[in-house]
Amino acid sequence: LAQCNLAGQWKNNLGSNMTISVLSDGMLSGSYLTSVSTTNKTIVESPLVGYQQLNGHPTFGFTVQWAFSNSITVFTGQCYRDESGKLFLKTMWLLRSESEEIKDDWAKTRVGYNIFEKLTTISP
Ligand code: BTN
Repeated sequence: LAQCNLAGQWKNNLGSNMTISVLSDGMLSGSYLTSVSTTNKTIVESPLVGYQQLNGHPTFGFTVQWAFSNSITVFTGQCYRDESGKLFLKTMWLLRSESEEIKDDWAKTRVGYNIFEKLTTISP
C-alpha cells in the first residue's frame, strides 16, 4: 500500500490551512492558519509542534500554540490515502481556552474533529 507523507500543505473542512515539516525521528513542526476563532482577535499564523509514528500511514499528534489568543489546541489523528491517491488526515482536537477563575474551568475545553486534504507535496 502506498504511503502517506505528512510533510506538505493541508486544508481542512473549515477552510483552515497548515504546513507541516517532518524532522528526524518523526518530529513535526509547522504553522497553522485557522479560518475560524472563538475570539474576536485578528487571526494570525501560529506555530505547531508534534510527533508522528514512522509507519506508512502514520498516527500523529501535535499542539498549536495560538499566537493571537491564550488558547491551545491539541490534534491527534492518522494519515490515509484513498483509492484515487488523495491524502487525508482524519483528526480529533481538544481546544483549551483560558479561564479567569477556577470555577469556570469546567466550560473551557471544546472537542471536535477535522478532515484535512493535502494540497501539495514538499517531498515525495
Ligand atoms: C482560539 O479560538 O482561541 C484559537 C483558534 C482555534 C481554532 C480551532 S482549533 C479546532 C478547529 N479547527 C480549526 O481549524 N480551527 C478550529
